[in-house]
Amino acid sequence: MTNNDFFQMAVRAAEKSYSPYSHFRVGAALLTEDGQVFTGCNIENSSYSLTVCAERTAVFKAVSSGFCDFKAIAIAGSADGDFSRPCYPCGACLQVLSEFCGDDFLIVLSDGAHTLSDFLPKRFSEENIK
Ligand code: THU
Repeated sequence: MTNNDFFQMAVRAAEKSYSPYSHFRVGAALLTEDGQVFTGCNIENSSYSLTVCAERTAVFKAVSSGFCDFKAIAIAGSADGDFSRPCYPCGACLQVLSEFCGDDFLIVLSDGAHTLSDFLPKRFSEENIK
């Protein structure tokens, strides 16, 4: 699978976005170490702070299905159907990803591939609570 094919899976996941408040559709595709893909979309709520991002939807679907080892995530976001501008993952989603993924975990956006450590070079982890 090319990075572009993977990114297009995130674009398709964004079609399911429930975003009546921001009208910003986000989709994510999360690739497990053994080649399965779990998708997710943002799910908003009239009580705004209860909104869940697309990335966390994908992670929670995967983990609750028994998959905790991940290679990469593709993320696509757009307010108008044009997914060419990169949609960067928010800090909360990076923290959730960092629970399961190491520095070299790939984050594929419309502008190419990045690593988790590009976005989150230092992170709060289990080491901090020992
Ligand atoms: N959103 C995501 O789904 N992922 C992110 O990493 C950043 C933001 C969503 C949340 C909200 O539904 C909309 O984008 C606008 O903030």
